[in-house]
Amino acid sequence: MRPGVVAPVERITAIYPGSFDPVTNGHVDLIERASRLFDRLIVALLLNPEKDPLFSIEERVEMLNQVVKHLPNVKVETFGGLLVDYARRKKARVLLRGIRAVSDYEFELQMALMNRQLEPEIETVFMLPAEAYSYLSSRLVKEVARLGGSIKDLVPPAVEERIRTKVSASR
Ligand code: PNS
Repeated sequence: MRPGVVAPVERITAIYPGSFDPVTNGHVDLIERASRLFDRLIVALLLNPEKDPLFSIEERVEMLNQVVKHLPNVKVETFGGLLVDYARRKKARVLLRGIRAVSDYEFELQMALMNRQLEPEIETVFMLPAEAYSYLSSRLVKEVARLGGSIKDLVPPAVEERIRTKVSASR
C-alpha cells in the first residue's frame, strides 16, 4: 500500500444464533455487550420445526425485536440450514455464543470446532453474561412460570407478560 494511504477499516458483522424460546435477560445482556463490540450484530433465530417450542417463530421474532429496539446496530432475523452457510451469506466474520458455566463449554466447544471445520474463515467468539444471569436459561424460565414461580427478574417485562398469558391459557 502506498505511504499515506490508510487502509479502510473492516466493519465486523457478528451473528448471535439461538432458539430464544423465549429471550431472557441473560440473552439481552449478551446482546447489549456484543452491540458495543461489533459494528453490526444479527440475532439469528433458528427455524427448527423438530423442537416443541412454547412460542412460535413469529412470537419469538416479535419479542426479540421489542428487546433490541434501543440498539441501532442490532437486527433480528431467522435462518434455516447450516449456520455457517447463513453467516457466509451475511458476510459475517463472527459467530457469538454465550457461556454461562463450565457445563456449557463442552457442547459449545464441539459446535465451534465443527463450524470451524465447515468454514475456517469464521470465528466463534464466546462472551460471558453478567454473573447475575449465569444460572438463567429459557428452559428453566418456562419451568418456573409453568409451576407458578416469579420470573419477574429473569425476562424483560414484555416477555414476562406473554409467558404468563401462554401458561394460563394452557392450564
Ligand atoms: O439456543 P440454542 O438452541 O442453544 O442454539 C443452537 C444453535 C441454533 C446455535 C445450533 O443448533 C445451530 O447452529 N443450528 C444450525 C444448524 C447447524 O449449523 N448445525 C451445525 C452446527 S455444529
